[in-house]
Amino acid sequence: MVMMKKLGIVTMNAGKFKEIKEMLKSVGCELHQVDEPFIEIQADTLEEVVLYGLKEIRGRISLSHPVIKDDSGLFIDVLDGFPGVYSAHAMRTIGCEGLLRLMEGQPERRAEFRTSVGLLYPDGSVSIYRGSVSGRIVEEARGRQGFGFDPIFVPDGYDETFAEMDLGTKNGISHRYRAISSLVDDLLDG
Ligand code: IMP
Repeated sequence: MVMMKKLGIVTMNAGKFKEIKEMLKSVGCELHQVDEPFIEIQADTLEEVVLYGLKEIRGRISLSHPVIKDDSGLFIDVLDGFPGVYSAHAMRTIGCEGLLRLMEGQPERRAEFRTSVGLLYPDGSVSIYRGSVSGRIVEEARGRQGFGFDPIFVPDGYDETFAEMDLGTKNGISHRYRAISSLVDDLLDG
């Protein structure tokens, strides 16, 4: 029997909140959004973004339960990992269509979604968890589910893009799921 645990998450992204909430619900964790403005820095690694965000939150509010912050990105091999840590900016500016233009005529289409999640405990200690999923960039965007670059990414072993899958299927294999799974293992052990 799993104990009900309460967790906060620092994010403004409704799609991400919905995904993580569903994942945690299935293991008896209740997730709520931390209603605090936060600064998202631009850094060279996902971990730096996560650690800065959590440090900042810790300096501002006192916590009665653990809080998580995640940062993810799409890393395309032939573009030397771009958009990677610049994924949010790339989404806001060039979007899926812009990335497809950059990949036009390119036969090498390997890519990876990566997530880093930080778990901040009320005593100030932080643990980091990582998850990734490999796949490829399609030639044309497909599907309406999910968010961000979901319409242009097909995970290995599938023909559908993330945006063509229902949330349950994506949530069972995604980078975020893999990072959150290790976090949950730790959290429920403790
Ligand atoms: P974030 O900083 O974790 O919100 O992720 C940065 C950007 O990466 C987002 O704005 C999305 O465009 C993209 N991204 C992250 N995770 C996913 C995902 O699961 N599917 C599609 N795009 C994603």
